[in-house]
Amino acid sequence: MDFALHSAPVAGLETPLLAVPVFSDEGARGDAFAAVDAAAGGLPGRIADEEQFKAEAGKTLLVHTGDAKARRVLLVGVGKAADLQAPELRAVGAAAAREANDRKLSSIAIALPGDVDAKAAARFLAEGAALGAYRYDKWRTRDVETPTCAKVTLVSDGVGADFDAIVARAQATADGVKLARDLVNGPPVEVTPEFLADTARGLAQRDGLDIEILDKAGIQKAGMNLLLAVNAGSDKEPRFIHWTYRPAGADASTPSIAIVGKGLTFDAGGYNMKPTGSMEDMKMDMAGGAAVLGVMAAVKALAPRYVVHGIVPSTENLVSGSAFKPGDIYKSLNGKTVEIMNTDAEGRLILADALCYAERLGVDRIIDLATLTGACMVALGPHTAGLFSPDAKFSGRLKAASEATGEDLWPMPLTPKLKAMLKSPTADMKNIGERWGGAITAALFLQEFVGDRTWAHLDIAGPAFADKTDAHISKGGTGFGVMTLLELLAGEV
Ligand code: BES
Ligand code: MN
Ligand code: ZN
Repeated sequence: MDFALHSAPVAGLETPLLAVPVFSDEGARGDAFAAVDAAAGGLPGRIADEEQFKAEAGKTLLVHTGDAKARRVLLVGVGKAADLQAPELRAVGAAAAREANDRKLSSIAIALPGDVDAKAAARFLAEGAALGAYRYDKWRTRDVETPTCAKVTLVSDGVGADFDAIVARAQATADGVKLARDLVNGPPVEVTPEFLADTARGLAQRDGLDIEILDKAGIQKAGMNLLLAVNAGSDKEPRFIHWTYRPAGADASTPSIAIVGKGLTFDAGGYNMKPTGSMEDMKMDMAGGAAVLGVMAAVKALAPRYVVHGIVPSTENLVSGSAFKPGDIYKSLNGKTVEIMNTDAEGRLILADALCYAERLGVDRIIDLATLTGACMVALGPHTAGLFSPDAKFSGRLKAASEATGEDLWPMPLTPKLKAMLKSPTADMKNIGERWGGAITAALFLQEFVGDRTWAHLDIAGPAFADKTDAHISKGGTGFGVMTLLELLAGEV
């Protein structure tokens, strides 16, 4: 998708479809609407009145204009002007791109609302158009609707010379999100640990970044016995991916961050097997790893000032005669022994070894992302990730980055009292707590493996996967986390 800027008055713009954000305020649909309406001889306003178009967020109305230069005007409701957050403009870009593809149009234009900072608006409209056009059609052999919309012209006199940089950034971000979505949406027969590793290697080579991939023998040699324990029931080899970005001129004093993602390519639960109804979507259990790949794929284009390590431990969690069992004890990479009390609490096991590996790299910051617990979805609902960190400042930065991108994070406690739930009668710890506080005991388990590094854990079990298409998000994998992490890396970590 290409983006262009039209900074002259909208009335002169010839386009098959011009989308315009419309406010729901009584008698004040906004400057952009007023200009577009005037250019089309007042027809859009008349039809909006006749059709009782109230411009609630997400509602759209398509108006054919007859002879006007913009052949169609798409009114996209954005709710009240005072309530509009800039990231919500992604919904406008997405609605415009979907409408264009439905109508087989090859180009569209979108008018920027005058009431939002023009640079922010351009960014979010471009991201929204790129993400709204996303489809996962790889395995369809019929009824494939190839997206037609290849060019989007943004209409604003306020963006200026920064336009190209804004668009390049938006595109790199959207490409990272789409990569993560593709990996989550891909069937587990295709998206195996080896596939994740090969994908990472290909992208690292494209961008000239360092990458080290451990196969099973390498993982054995390294001593990641918890990753091996989870892998024991699978016929597919595990992989451990370590991808490194160094900014130009980086030296030993350059701050560094590791982002670690759970890469469980299918979670059947092991011998504590998931019942029907809980297993069907478990191809998504590598969404944290997919988000790490999405970030690392965009990192060169976005060029943060930090050394960034992308780390993904990857395996399936299945059953077989060699699978790990409740009661088994394994020694983790940092030497702590873990008694397995539930083979379905496997994410924390593979992350434990990976966090320990990240800690040993000597990085200043560690963030992990994992579809870790159903309990987190019970606590926060399906759209919000749990944010756990003992460091209030770091957690505040992550929260701010998430707010700037419109991804939803909410702080959760690392309640010290619950640590006792992880005590094992025979080993240093066990891998589950009791019934209550399941998202917290999972986070407390992870904390045992980060040493004294500044660390944050994101439980993305809810928002990693959407059960319906909404605004710029499409049903299935969402790519959650990519945008927040890229935003964080662009600022002060
Ligand atoms: N991958 C699941 C968590 C999950 C559940 C992700 C629903 C997305 C949607 C994880 O490995 C798991 O099975 N967690 C258990 C932990 C329990 C055994 C302590 C859970 O949440 O039930
Ligand atoms: Mn599980
Ligand atoms: Zn899992």
